[in-house]
Amino acid sequence: MSTSLTRLEMIQPDDWHLHIRDGEVMRDVLVDTARQFARAIVMPNLKPPVTTVDLANAYRERIEQQLKALGVSTFTPLMTLYLTNNTSAAEVLKAKAADVVAFKLYPAGATTNSDAGVSDLKFCHATLEAMQSVGMPLLVHGEVTDPEVDIFDREAVFIDQVLEPLRKNFPELKIVFEHITTKQAAHYVRDAQTGGKNILGATITPQHLLMNRNAIFTGGIRPHHYCLPVLKREEHRLALLEVATSGNPRFFLGTDSAPHAKGAKEAACGCAGCYSAFNALGLYAEAFESVGKLDRLEGFASFFGPDFYHLPRNTQKIVLVKSPQNIPAELPLGDATIVPLRAGETIAWSLA
Ligand code: DOR
Ligand code: ZN
Repeated sequence: MSTSLTRLEMIQPDDWHLHIRDGEVMRDVLVDTARQFARAIVMPNLKPPVTTVDLANAYRERIEQQLKALGVSTFTPLMTLYLTNNTSAAEVLKAKAADVVAFKLYPAGATTNSDAGVSDLKFCHATLEAMQSVGMPLLVHGEVTDPEVDIFDREAVFIDQVLEPLRKNFPELKIVFEHITTKQAAHYVRDAQTGGKNILGATITPQHLLMNRNAIFTGGIRPHHYCLPVLKREEHRLALLEVATSGNPRFFLGTDSAPHAKGAKEAACGCAGCYSAFNALGLYAEAFESVGKLDRLEGFASFFGPDFYHLPRNTQKIVLVKSPQNIPAELPLGDATIVPLRAGETIAWSLA
């Protein structure tokens, strides 16, 4: 990778946590992701969720058809399955054979389309055993769902109540702590003992590197800055920035870009999710530049994810340039519109 103040050439990145939905919405958001990334892990929280290999294969086919219709031949979707109380060990073996790359744990009720999620991991023992034995990663939405637990504490409580026991019971299970938002999660992943094995990772979104919880309330309520896990205090943002830019291979890029139509966000009960896909790489570059660590972006964005998943690193290169780009106020989304992160503002970095 070469860096100067205004130009950054690097191996093309992948997005290790992405929501693209289905149908017309998928068509509109795929373009943004495929412009920047070579591959992306596609989250399975559709309605109904992608719970079987057959559903994942059908979803992959719809994505591939859409890519073909768009004339995109340079992007590969990586499929995941949605873990439920009833997912069988046999489905894990079938998934492994079908190039499904991971299973996603949504604690039931934790976030968008998570009602079919796991109510208690005790129902999943045989399934987790199978995942551990075939090296199938478990991607976790790391928040407890107990309404008694303060929403800003749900990730930290998840570590003690769910993640630590899970890792004790399944010490060889590959786990990605998705979209971490707290100092506790950053330090937990940084300090965990794995016997030298590459079995624990964490993804970090651009919004959690760039904003703290004040951004949800600046001058009024800002629904487009609401996502789950919710933005946290500044001390947490700084801890995330510190680990993301540290060169530690346990931390890698996952935007969690989550499209919701403008009307569903600007509502009495607005949906959770930030749409960062429009210029995600520019946002990450801004975050890394803010601490003088642009030289660490390539590892985070392009190397550590494929290494964790035992996939080849990309070989083709991209160039980011520091040249102000206007982010539109809205973008088309099926028969509606979507408000991207930084809508109506200018951002410094973008794809050449
Ligand atoms: O903000 C979020 N939006 N967090 C999630 O975990 C899910 C996502 C979505 O699918 O909209
Ligand atoms: Zn997500």
